Amino acid sequence: MSSELVNYRCDGHIALLTVDNPPVNALSQPLRAALLAAVRRAGADPQTQAMVILCAGRTFIAGADVGEFDRPPEEPHLPELTQAIESAGKPVVAALHGTALGGGFEIALASHYRIATADSKVGLPEVKLGVIPGAGGTQRLPRLVGVEAALRMIVGGEPVSAGEALTLGAIDEIATGDLTGAALAAASRLVAQGGAPRRTAEQPLATVEPAIFDAARRQAAVKQRHLLAPLAAIEAIEAAVTQPFAKSVQRERQLFLERRSSAQAAALRNAFLGEREVARVPGLPDDLPTREIRRVAVLGAGTMGGGIAMCFANAGFDVLLKEVDAAALDRGMSIIRKNYQASAARGGLSAQEMERRLQRIQPTLVWSDLAEVDLIVEAVFEDIGVKRQVFEQLDAIARPGAILATNTSYLDVAQIAEFTRRPQDVVGMHFFSPANVMRLLENVRTAKTAPEVLATVMKLGRKLGKVAVLVGGCDGFVGNRMLAQRTREAWFLLEEGALPQQVDAALVDFGFPMGPFAVSDLAGLDIGWRNRQARAHLRRPGVRDCDLLDQVCQLGRLGQKTAAGWYRYDAGSRTPLPDPAIEALIVAHSQARGITRRQISEQEIVERCVYSMINEAAKILDEGVAARPVDVDMVWLNGYGFPKWRGGPLFYADQVGLPQVLATVESYAERLGTDFWAPAPLLRQRVAEGGTFYRRPG
Ligand code: NAI
Repeated sequence: MSSELVNYRCDGHIALLTVDNPPVNALSQPLRAALLAAVRRAGADPQTQAMVILCAGRTFIAGADVGEFDRPPEEPHLPELTQAIESAGKPVVAALHGTALGGGFEIALASHYRIATADSKVGLPEVKLGVIPGAGGTQRLPRLVGVEAALRMIVGGEPVSAGEALTLGAIDEIATGDLTGAALAAASRLVAQGGAPRRTAEQPLATVEPAIFDAARRQAAVKQRHLLAPLAAIEAIEAAVTQPFAKSVQRERQLFLERRSSAQAAALRNAFLGEREVARVPGLPDDLPTREIRRVAVLGAGTMGGGIAMCFANAGFDVLLKEVDAAALDRGMSIIRKNYQASAARGGLSAQEMERRLQRIQPTLVWSDLAEVDLIVEAVFEDIGVKRQVFEQLDAIARPGAILATNTSYLDVAQIAEFTRRPQDVVGMHFFSPANVMRLLENVRTAKTAPEVLATVMKLGRKLGKVAVLVGGCDGFVGNRMLAQRTREAWFLLEEGALPQQVDAALVDFGFPMGPFAVSDLAGLDIGWRNRQARAHLRRPGVRDCDLLDQVCQLGRLGQKTAAGWYRYDAGSRTPLPDPAIEALIVAHSQARGITRRQISEQEIVERCVYSMINEAAKILDEGVAARPVDVDMVWLNGYGFPKWRGGPLFYADQVGLPQVLATVESYAERLGTDFWAPAPLLRQRVAEGGTFYRRPG
């Protein structure tokens, strides 16, 4: 009488309960029910003296079924299951492999003995999804590892290795050899020792200084600013210390349920599920064949080309790196080497692994070397003439079926495709700087790109460890097109009365890791300056334009690299310091333009910078440049530091309420004119329908 989800068999006097719910044995409601039934059955069977809970497939239970969080909790709830396991009258052994996380690890904690493979990981990462462990995790873990380590693991949410878990006391044994055999042996031992269950909840908690909780709260306020789940986790652990188990476990549940239904948890779930969703592209069947990519070439060993080459080498690809001359190639290779050395020095990479990766990158100056590769990513100068030359050349030498990708930021991929006789093989692969670090990859389709080419670059994105989002062609694609709105409003705010530090502070308060002016200083102001020059011809006569960036650059202030930009920097420091010289320049600029400077509120800064992007995103959706709201949101979460706990610009707009967003956009249209603030038709439409970006009514 096994269920499909839990296989039940007996090995002598020991019952083996094998969970089998691929791909990661997530704790869905049917699995909870099946496991509870199996535990009760083993408990009731007089022939059974102990039980082992283990999992089929690649991992022990890796956590909750996140999709269920959008619905009311369904019975049996997880606490009922962990309670049943812990109170079983015979020993329960949990045998862990892969990643025993969240609810999976709570099941292990409620078991009476934990054995794990050496390469497994355990942890309670719930805070990353805006919740806390809700089935005794915050109560049992401190009893096993002590309050300090429990705070670290639960409030930080990082899993630990089996070795570390053993040292801490979170598990009892590391299996050498076969896990099932070792778990059965452990169960037999427990039976032989008398068979009394070792209940975690009954173990005493070591006393701690109450100050430890205040210290944890202070740390969370800095390191996990804005986040509420870490504070709830601290409170739950504190309850474990101050109240009896039966009471504190109820407090944990209450805190869990509060967090589960919170706006932050919904937003963090959107971020988590969205990463998976963007991989499934509407109109591209999952079983569409893809082209095999083994050898890759990157054109241009500059800022982007070098990072892109590293990114492929890191994922195990052989990469040819092509430049125009030996000097540029040597420069590019030496920067790559330095970057690898820096990560080796930080301990992120062994010397051996660094060498292996470096070896995979072969520098070349010869076009014909590229004749056999499967994919070429072009990252040469952002100039349509240069792109033309390069793509004509590629068309002449690349093998039939090779994918030709461009990393252009703003140029028209469809136009670039027409420089070849094989536009079906041309696609945009827009990496972000530094390309070996940033998770976002915008894959840009044209009307002619072959579906299997799109499927191939989407799959490739995942192999590279990126969040790949498929977008359509337009000026700046999704990310930079929205960014342009924020940048423009930030400059306008300066001439109207704000200072860079004030704009930055407002957006950091909103949740961005850095403000736009500090980011520009970091990236180098010349990038934006050059971009403004290249696009000067697109400026519409009579339409407001702010040239403050040009003025700052003309002073030779190019950001951190010149120790001065929108801010000033002390020698060797990266800390932006407000600069009276910049204030004077901005004030003089306002005067010259006849603008009376005024006090600008934090609310106005956020609305002008963020709502302008939301309005643009609505146009992007309407035009089909992004297929779904989630595509827009994943671009901004993974490429531009939009706060995860707000779920993305469009998820945030839905939470604010679209009628309010529209009213705000309209009020700015009235004050500032419709050149930049005309409400997007889709925004109006969704408000009229009573819908949101994510959900249409009906
Ligand atoms: P870069 O100026 O640092 O590097 C360009 C490199 O291409 C130079 O080393 C140059 O010698 C080389 N090159 C020029 N013509 C070549 C040819 N015919 N064959 C081989 N190599 C050639 O430029 P960067 O910043 O790396 O930009 C490259 C591309 O990436 C541009 O299209 C840019 O818009 C795009 N991009 C840049 C980002 C950034 O943050 N810098 C972000 C995303 C895209």
